[in-house]
Amino acid sequence: MRLLGVGGAVCVITPMRRRHLRRVMRIEALTYERHWTRSVFESELDQVGRGGRHYVVARSDGDIVGYAGLWVVAGGSVPTEAHITNIVVDEANRRRGVASALMCHLGRVARAEGATAWTLEVRATATGAHELYRRFGFAPAGVRRGYYENGTDAVVMWCHELGDDDYGHRLDALDPNRGGR
Ligand SMILES: CC(C)(COP(=O)(O)OP(=O)(O)OC[C@H]1O[C@@H](n2cnc3c(N)ncnc32)[C@H](O)[C@@H]1OP(=O)(O)O)[C@@H](O)C(=O)NCCC(=O)NCCS
Repeated sequence: MRLLGVGGAVCVITPMRRRHLRRVMRIEALTYERHWTRSVFESELDQVGRGGRHYVVARSDGDIVGYAGLWVVAGGSVPTEAHITNIVVDEANRRRGVASALMCHLGRVARAEGATAWTLEVRATATGAHELYRRFGFAPAGVRRGYYENGTDAVVMWCHELGDDDYGHRLDALDPNRGGR
């Protein structure tokens, strides 16, 4: 179900700031048993602008309902790639297109910085997230056994089409903030 806000957008995406961390940490703690600490987020935010790091929040009706992070790794002689470090949507706001909007935003950022592939790690048990990523062209490429708490495996997923011309259209078609889904 999509609940559209003002102007037809499901959410507004802006850079994450330190003042957002209280709400971000609340969502993080409700989502994961073992989660990033505030100091990890602070350290990441300190590096924004210096090293290809991007952290954003999604707001709906003024409240932060999700957030996501991206590292763009320029490889010198190898193609530039992007790593999604986290993407979380507050439980009460899921299945509204917020994560899709965040992914579309990060995908455009990564493309603008020259990345031609992007990757992420996801809990093997997070079937909803797998479906989300599949829609964005990610496919499983490997497994890190027992990577998460309770011995849950991490599935490493890659999408190598990020830099393709068509992929920009795919992002537009998937972006709920642009009428896609
Ligand atoms: C995974 C997560 C980020 C998805 O956020 P979301 O805002 O609900 O995702 P969207 O609304 O953009 O979903 C887009 C599509 O992904 C798929 N999807 C998302 N969640 C799903 C679920 N729980 N079950 C099945 N499909 C799902 C669907 O195809 C969905 O489209 P639809 O709603 O039209 O059917 C959210 O559930 C979450 O924060 N989970 C906990 C953290 C997590 O697992 N993060 C992933 C990295 S480990």
